[in-house]
Amino acid sequence: MKELLAKLVEASGIPGAEDSVREVIKKELQGHVGEMFTDNLGNLITKKIGTLGKPTVMFAAHMDEVGLMVKYIDEKGFIKFAKVGGVVDQPLLSQRVKIHTEKGSIVGIIGAKPPHLMKEEERKKIVEFEDMFIDVGTTSKEDAEKLGVRIGNPITFERGLVELRNKLVTGKALDDRAGCAILIETMKRLPKTEATVYAVFTVQEEIGLRGATVSAFKLNPNLAIALDITSAGDYPGIKEFESPIKIGHGPAIKIVDGRKESLGGGLVAHPKVRELLIKAAEKEEIPYQLEVMEGGTTDATAIQLSREGIPAGVISIPTRYAHSPVEVISLEDAENAVKICLNAVQLAPRFFGL
Ligand code: CO
Ligand code: ZN
Repeated sequence: MKELLAKLVEASGIPGAEDSVREVIKKELQGHVGEMFTDNLGNLITKKIGTLGKPTVMFAAHMDEVGLMVKYIDEKGFIKFAKVGGVVDQPLLSQRVKIHTEKGSIVGIIGAKPPHLMKEEERKKIVEFEDMFIDVGTTSKEDAEKLGVRIGNPITFERGLVELRNKLVTGKALDDRAGCAILIETMKRLPKTEATVYAVFTVQEEIGLRGATVSAFKLNPNLAIALDITSAGDYPGIKEFESPIKIGHGPAIKIVDGRKESLGGGLVAHPKVRELLIKAAEKEEIPYQLEVMEGGTTDATAIQLSREGIPAGVISIPTRYAHSPVEVISLEDAENAVKICLNAVQLAPRFFGL
């Protein structure tokens, strides 16, 4: 699991530029699935046909990660950028980033004034996004262009996977490469089953669940399960009631999610899918947590609204510091999520006997 996650985290894929992630997944699943193809938007769809062929179960994990994009190159070769997905300003400063060009990737840094040159009041202030820029070491616009830097180049954090204590790992893009790793492992370990299983690695989740929208329409499954991250609240600065989810205490099974204040725009997990996932965990005494998540949603939200409505649920991986270059998850939670997925496929015909 750790080696697989490291490979996936190393790949880069802001929304709409997920190619290198897709290549890693294709290689991993070669020979482990019956069918594998890429659709018009770039979703990677894989399939294993069951002995009964029903129900059809669609799993979804998104390949894209939040990041940045080249917006403007100034005459001295400094690069201004746009945000792609929900990135806040604070973690950006002093980061090392990679700009992905046609000629390969270039390392740059998001620089800032040193304390020596700051006025007293500047030291207390947060530097705003509008004032940030990337320095790749070039001295002119032409110099940057010669390296391959162009308007629209994707930019990702430069941060590979590192292990912490207690089976925790940290890196960028664990949202949602963790989900991708769990889905790859599930497909690899899946025995002969009655249900037919689709594993869909989606594009453009972070900017509006776009890949999930079109792939659910195409596959029209009997039920769907998204694999994504959720915010753990088990560290200083968050009150326990704000997010009672804890890292290392098992995957979370979603009850609801959506916008803060109203839970609008999100998902009410379908009761049958929710119960299926709970039974799948309890079957082997796999630890799990129940999740009411205010602020954010997943691919399952788009899938449930496809065609005439598709029963959908979510298995979430508790994650600290989401959408930063130092996201943290537990390898044990990821391993337990694979087990829940495998059991859910086995139990699916009982819940969705057609
Ligand atoms: Co996200
Ligand atoms: Zn996500």
